[in-house]
Amino acid sequence: MLAQLSGFVETCLGLHFPPERLGDLERGVGSAAGEFGFSTIDSCIEWLLATALSRRQIETLASHLTVGETYFFRDRRVFDILETQVLPAIIESRRGRDQHLRIWSAACSSGEEPYSLAILLTRMIPDLKDWIISILATDISPLSLKKADEGIYGEWSFRDTPRWVKEGCFKQRADKFEINPRIKRMVTFSCLNLAEDPYPAIINATNAMDIIFCRNVLIYFSRDRADAVIRNLSRCLVDGGWLVVSPVEVPGTVAPPLLHPVRFPGAVLYRKGAMTEDVIPRPATLPAMAVARPKPAALGGSGKAPGTARPVRPKKKPQVPVTAAGDGGPSPQQARRLADQGRLAEALAVCEAVIPADKLNPALYYLQATILQEMGRTGEAVVVLQRALYIDQEFAIAHFALGHLLQGQGRHREAGKHLAKACSLLQGLGHDEVPPEAEGMSAGRLIELIQAMQGLEGRG
Ligand SMILES: C[S@@+](CC[C@H](N)C(=O)[O-])C[C@H]1O[C@@H](n2cnc3c(N)ncnc32)[C@H](O)[C@@H]1O
Repeated sequence: MLAQLSGFVETCLGLHFPPERLGDLERGVGSAAGEFGFSTIDSCIEWLLATALSRRQIETLASHLTVGETYFFRDRRVFDILETQVLPAIIESRRGRDQHLRIWSAACSSGEEPYSLAILLTRMIPDLKDWIISILATDISPLSLKKADEGIYGEWSFRDTPRWVKEGCFKQRADKFEINPRIKRMVTFSCLNLAEDPYPAIINATNAMDIIFCRNVLIYFSRDRADAVIRNLSRCLVDGGWLVVSPVEVPGTVAPPLLHPVRFPGAVLYRKGAMTEDVIPRPATLPAMAVARPKPAALGGSGKAPGTARPVRPKKKPQVPVTAAGDGGPSPQQARRLADQGRLAEALAVCEAVIPADKLNPALYYLQATILQEMGRTGEAVVVLQRALYIDQEFAIAHFALGHLLQGQGRHREAGKHLAKACSLLQGLGHDEVPPEAEGMSAGRLIELIQAMQGLEGRG
C-alpha cells in the first residue's frame, strides 16, 4: 500500500519517495493522519488512495511530507553574492529610468527566505520608496504561509544569521521576534504548488522575474519533475535573470541554452540566456575568474562582450516595437510575450496600440491592467479593470484580479464584493474548466485561492 501511495504522491505533489525512503513517507502520513481525522496510518492511506482530494487536502498532505526547515540568511554566501555582485548591477542599470525589481522565493516555507531578501534590499537601496519592488513568496503548505504572514519568529530562525538582522529589523515580544511592518509589507505570500500550478503566468504574478530562489525543495522531487520545475522557472525569468538553487539539487536541465552556470567563490548561480547589458555585472565588481561566461553562440549569437555597462539613459516614452515582417503588427500576443520578458513599458505600449481597434474587448483591458499592476501602477490598473467589468460584468478573472488589487489597497469591503462575485461565477463552471484569461488555472483552483484570500482577510 505504501508503494501505491508513493506513486500517488509523486503524481499530485511531485514528491518522490524511492523504496529506501518509504519509511519517511510512512512517518509523514502518520503525522497527517491525525489532521485528516484518522486514528491509524492504514485507514488514512486507504482513504487517500480512494478519495479525490481537494487542493487544500493535497496541500495539507504536502506539508507533512516535506520539511519546512529554514532560517534567515540561510547560506550566507549566496546573500553576499547577491549583495556584492548581482543586485548592484541590476540596480545600477535601472536607476533613474526603470526602477523596478521582481524577486520570487518559490517554496518559501515560513517566510525567512523572502524576508531576508526584503531586508537585503532595504539595506542596499536607500531610496527604496522610489522603487517598485515585488517580492513574491509561495509555498504549497498553507500552515507555513500562515506563519510567514504573521511574521513572528523564535530564536531558531536566526541560528546562523548576522546579529544586525535581528537587532535592526525585528521587535522583541517575550521570547519571540516580530518583523518590522515595513519589511513585512514588501513581501506577498501566496499558495503555489510547483508540481501542478501554471507558471509563468500573469495571473499569479510569476512572470518577468529578475531573481528566483528555489532552494531545498527540488530534493524532494523526482529527477524528471525537478527538471520540469527548473524549465518552467527559467521561463519565468527575464533575459539575464538569475536562478538560485542549492548545490545538491541541480538537475540535468540546468545547462545552456536555457540557463548558464555562473561560478562565484563558494556558490554557483544560474543565469538565463541572452544577456542584456542591463543586468550584466560589471568587471569592476565581478572577479573575472569567477564567471563561467557562456559562448556568444549559446547566447543567441550577439557576440557582445559582457561587462560593457552603459551610462544611465534618460527616460523616454516606450515605442511599440517593430514586428517582424508578416507578423501582422502589434497584437495582444506580442504584448503578452513582452510582458513575460519583463519589457513592461513596451508591452503596455503594444497593448494600448491594440485597444482602439477593438475597444469593446474586455480581455484587452484585463491585459492592460495586469501589465500596469506589474509596473506598480495599481491605481490605474484598478480603473482599467473597472472598465473591463463595465463591458462584461460576468468576467470572473477580472473580478478576481480587482478583488486582489483592492485588498492590497486596504479597500476590504469592495474587495470582498468582487471576490465573492468571482467565486459565484467560477462555481457556475466545472471544477476543472479553465475560465477565459485564467492562463491554465482551473475554476476549482481559483475558488480555493479566493477562499484562502478571504481567510487571510478574516484574520487581518
Ligand atoms: C526546506 S523548505 C525550503 C525553505 C527555503 N526555500 C530554504 O531553502 O530555506 C521546503 C519547502 O518546500 C515546500 N514544498 C514542498 N513541495 C512543494 C511543492 N510541490 N510546491 C511548492 N512548495 C513545496 C514545503 O512546504 C517546504 O516549505
